[in-house]
Amino acid sequence: MGKLEQEVSRRKTFAIISHPDAGKTTLTEKLLLLGGAIRTAGSVKSRKSKKFATSDWMELEKQRGISVTSSVMQFVYDDFKINILDTPGHQDFSEDTYRTLMAVDSVVMIIDAAKGVEAQTLKLFKVCRDRGIPIFTFINKLDRQGKEPLELFEELEEVLGIETCPVNYPIGMGQSFCGVYDRFKKEIELYDDKKEETLLPAATLEDLRSVLSKVADESTIGQLEEELLLLDEAGNPFDEEAVRAGKQTPVFFGSAISSFGVPTFLRHFLGLAPGPAARETSKGQIAPTEPLFSGFIFKIQANMNPAHRDRIAFLRICSGKYEKGMETWLDRTGKAVKLAQPQQFFADSRENVEEAYPGDIVGIYDPGVYQIGDTLCEAKDTFNFGKLPTFPPEHFSKVRAKTALKQKHFIKGIEQLAQEGAVQIYKTERFEEYILGVVGQLQFDVFKYRMEAEYNVELDIQPMSFHIARWLMSEDVPREALRSTTNMVVHDGQDRPVILFENEFGLNWFQQKNPEIQLAESIV
Ligand code: G4P
Repeated sequence: MGKLEQEVSRRKTFAIISHPDAGKTTLTEKLLLLGGAIRTAGSVKSRKSKKFATSDWMELEKQRGISVTSSVMQFVYDDFKINILDTPGHQDFSEDTYRTLMAVDSVVMIIDAAKGVEAQTLKLFKVCRDRGIPIFTFINKLDRQGKEPLELFEELEEVLGIETCPVNYPIGMGQSFCGVYDRFKKEIELYDDKKEETLLPAATLEDLRSVLSKVADESTIGQLEEELLLLDEAGNPFDEEAVRAGKQTPVFFGSAISSFGVPTFLRHFLGLAPGPAARETSKGQIAPTEPLFSGFIFKIQANMNPAHRDRIAFLRICSGKYEKGMETWLDRTGKAVKLAQPQQFFADSRENVEEAYPGDIVGIYDPGVYQIGDTLCEAKDTFNFGKLPTFPPEHFSKVRAKTALKQKHFIKGIEQLAQEGAVQIYKTERFEEYILGVVGQLQFDVFKYRMEAEYNVELDIQPMSFHIARWLMSEDVPREALRSTTNMVVHDGQDRPVILFENEFGLNWFQQKNPEIQLAESIV
């Protein structure tokens, strides 16, 4: 195997998706601890607590180094190079959260055992499912009483529509939680307060009973035996191809807070999760082992310092080897660009990159030349990875400059910030008023702050009652058919018509009335 093949086979690049409070920060931290990327628990956590309010967000952005490094974290475990990409949640949930999923090779979905599938998990899951991204499930907080495992599988299958295949299975729960049984390795992992990993082989149900009789009560053992038999008979057999296609999810149980089940999860994950795969381009599929260097930009993070309007563009490497100082071509403009000051990110630092491989994420200094979805390639006129999809915003506001004198600055700012991809800009049909669409509410505050700080424009923002945007795909539809008192027709940044609805009810009503009109939830 050549050096490039070897490096590609060592890479695992994934994101963790969950609803707030399911344990994403805790699990991330335990994984980083395992990889030796951080030394003490609490380092990721303390960062997160700063993300709650707008004022804190700005404070955080001032310490920019920190907020950038927490977007991507690389560590080494068992000779694998692992890249975890952060999917911002809570109030800073945004298009970035969705777009990050375009840059990963798999996803870990955390479910709180007591709560099951929650709203934000469902939203993120849908993006993964539509792209066929492999999904691994970690059911967390087994140290507390939660839903029955079989009930959780049913929920995953019904609500998410994905097959489940439990790799391990909990022994008791809450007060009676004794550990998990690894169905693949046929061993018991005992839960103890010493937080040491205790693995005991149990090839048969008799072995299982004899080991567990010392730690579990009869009803726990009886229930476990029954459910394991049921799973063997009626459960889904493990199907590697279905996992790779995102149609089956391997399920793990644990308690991230005590790190219980985390090392075994990581080892299984590294064995099962796919590494960088071939990606579709305008010229067909490009394998990661293709010697020609290529990658695409999935996120741009702006500096809050008004004196230096520099930005960092996050580049996902898709093929070939990146070497320091190399010249690349930006497909969109056909111009040569030197990747300036490329950096790689670790849990609490960033370092200049000497070389990087497919699966890795590098941050490059952006003097304002990059756009989200840009392809960079080592040779001119080669291929591009296509545009990244635009995701439907859920909150809309009318925006205008407080004083008309600032109109020029206002338009420049609004256009540049929309280009970064944090917000979407629409215009009303008749009066060409600007409407801002965002995925997460916090983006309004951030947008207002940045327009003042960077473009010296004070904004007037008026929230609107719309929550759903659908692109109009049918052509030549008469305007009268589209208008109603509860919706509004606007145009996106590329002048494509979009209909805004107040709620699902309004959308459904519209579709019933106009079954021939095609609407799309996202658009490339
Ligand atoms: P998030 O990033 O997904 O939002 O979740 P986070 O890791 O911050 O966890 C949310 C809460 O759940 C935290 O409690 C955390 O300690 C707790 N938690 C995480 N994993 C487990 C687990 O395996 N078992 C139990 N019982 N709790 C868990 P908190 O009270 O909000 O914060 P803190 O005061 O503990 O820091």
